[in-house]
Amino acid sequence: MAGAMSTEPQVPRRSILSAAGVGWLAMGASLGAGSWAAARFMRPNPPGRQNEEVDAGPVERYVSLASGQISDAISNKGIWIARIQERLVAIDATCTHLGCRVAWMGNDARFRCPCHGSSFAADGTNLDGPAPRPLQHLAIRVQDGRVIVNSNRRFRKERDEWEHPDSFILA
Ligand code: FES
Repeated sequence: MAGAMSTEPQVPRRSILSAAGVGWLAMGASLGAGSWAAARFMRPNPPGRQNEEVDAGPVERYVSLASGQISDAISNKGIWIARIQERLVAIDATCTHLGCRVAWMGNDARFRCPCHGSSFAADGTNLDGPAPRPLQHLAIRVQDGRVIVNSNRRFRKERDEWEHPDSFILA
């Protein structure tokens, strides 16, 4: 019948659009928070080294390592001591992809990164995965019969810095 009035409650179109906008904003915020949480999870914990100098213990601890063998004596500091032929080197466990902490896998004879699968040889050279370059070596020296690693002084293979005399000790 012409002129009949609806008994349905009238909701202004502006209110509907406004409610939809709030919904989209909430969903966007939720997705954003989820993405941040996922990124934070995939991003590794920083190595957390406060001290520049790390005492790795008496040098005798390392003299019996065979070439290619790794010591985990200070791995809790994010540092692995490796013997590479006649040299002892300190390897920074920070993955060169996105910074996860790598760990030595004795069965595989390589460092492996838990985040995206990069692996590295005993000297830190990158073997596979997304890591774009080798692990870094750290300054190492013997002082009063003890191995001291400077965790803030780094040497990069691709810059030929692994031949720097402060990047290894002969022991
Ligand atoms: S952080 Fe991505 S492979 Fe190590």
